[in-house]
Amino acid sequence: MSNELKATLTFSDGSPGAEFPVYSGTIGPDVIDIRKLYAQTGKFTFDPGFMSTAACESAITYIDGDKGELLYRGYPIEELAVSCDYLETCYLLLHGELPSADQKSRFVTSVTYHTMVHEQMTRFFQGFRRDAHPMAVLCGSVGAMSAFYHDSLDIYNLEHRYISAIRLIAKMPTLVAMAYKYSIGQPFVYPRNDLGYSANFMRMMFANPCEEYKVNDVLVRALDRILILHADHEQNASTSTVRLAGSSGANPFACIAAGVATLWGPAHGGANEACLLMLNELQAQGGADKIGDFIAKVKDKHSGVKLMGFGHRVYKNFDPRAKLMRETCYEVLNELGLQDDPLFKLAMTLEKVALEDDYFVTRKLYPNVDFYSGIVQKALGIPTDLFTCIFALARTVGWIANWNEMISDPDQKIGRPRQLFKGNVRRQVLPIGQR
Ligand code: CMC
Repeated sequence: MSNELKATLTFSDGSPGAEFPVYSGTIGPDVIDIRKLYAQTGKFTFDPGFMSTAACESAITYIDGDKGELLYRGYPIEELAVSCDYLETCYLLLHGELPSADQKSRFVTSVTYHTMVHEQMTRFFQGFRRDAHPMAVLCGSVGAMSAFYHDSLDIYNLEHRYISAIRLIAKMPTLVAMAYKYSIGQPFVYPRNDLGYSANFMRMMFANPCEEYKVNDVLVRALDRILILHADHEQNASTSTVRLAGSSGANPFACIAAGVATLWGPAHGGANEACLLMLNELQAQGGADKIGDFIAKVKDKHSGVKLMGFGHRVYKNFDPRAKLMRETCYEVLNELGLQDDPLFKLAMTLEKVALEDDYFVTRKLYPNVDFYSGIVQKALGIPTDLFTCIFALARTVGWIANWNEMISDPDQKIGRPRQLFKGNVRRQVLPIGQR
């Protein structure tokens, strides 16, 4: 970071101002280093929602929201999605470089040989209600991993950190598939080491003791692409949560459980489930003929209705992941002979209408990755309430890469925001009879 440029802060009431260093990244907006602001002026900054705040330094993922560009370690998502598989992408996010053939083979072996979960986990699952939302089960079971793998929880030990990262990436598909099997009352399916990461997940989801799952390469590749597109996304709400939880020195399993909880919300990872529910409802109400009424409701601020799968805090141009997801949608529906899938057609019409509407144009609202990911997942046979778990599975590597980057930073401090206090000033407690 070069700090030749300075930013000067002055106050209209003549209070003493202050000067702050300005740093440039390799790309992206410069940042004003205000760490000494309070010491120098006795004032805080106020930025709820982090609209203008860079909370950390990172070298993992870069988004240019105006260009619609997403880079993992410098590589555009469009290239990674066609040239790499998910585990290569994981290696890239964790290590900073794409693996050589030998590095990839060793990484794949490490992940593959950690896919099984502790047998006692199966009994832990029995404690959940069968009708629990799978994200509730995932939050609980990921958090519980720290109780099962407490041999590697020294966060200042590089090897412990690495083995925890591998365990999380490897076991997440097993836990998600277990959450599904538990919800439908089928026995858990153990992982198989002769299958690739995504094929193994599909088998754990869809095989049963009476019937083996036939791996379909097109569908496996589609799932792998969903995982690549969701693998990381800079300092989003769940990643920032993982960093904040980790900043106190909490163990990685607890931190990732916090990430899972944050992802669950409909403004974040829960949008894929909410989007498919929205499309289903619109279809039930009359489909394309009702788009006009629906869009009118979305534009009415009092209705509380949003066009799910549209809009993004950072992308003010097309979300590049949405384009790739729409492509995958075509591939999967063609493979399954579902070219005329009414929901896909409805989604495309809805997208077209919204993109031509002034409300969306002026606010720069474009489809995000979740607009089409639900249709793909549905076609793969994944139930709607499991969509966000698939997102969590994919994002685990991004969370752990960010957590690891933070722990390795010698300047790392516990995250502790301040506030603009608007409550009562000091007052006296009155005896109960006088209140
Ligand atoms: N439908 C209708 N209006 C919208 C939408 C939408 N989906 N998104 C934003 N707006 C409006 C919003 O009402 C506001 O209007 P106005 O200026 O008149 O008050 C304006 O656009 C700016 O929106 P904002 O809420 O201030 O933007 P934000 O950056 O705080 O929120 C968002 C971003 C993703 C939470 C929001 O766009 C949203 O709720 N979208 C729907 C949920 C969704 O698809 N989420 C998935 C995000 S991508 C996956 C992920 O990374 O998690």
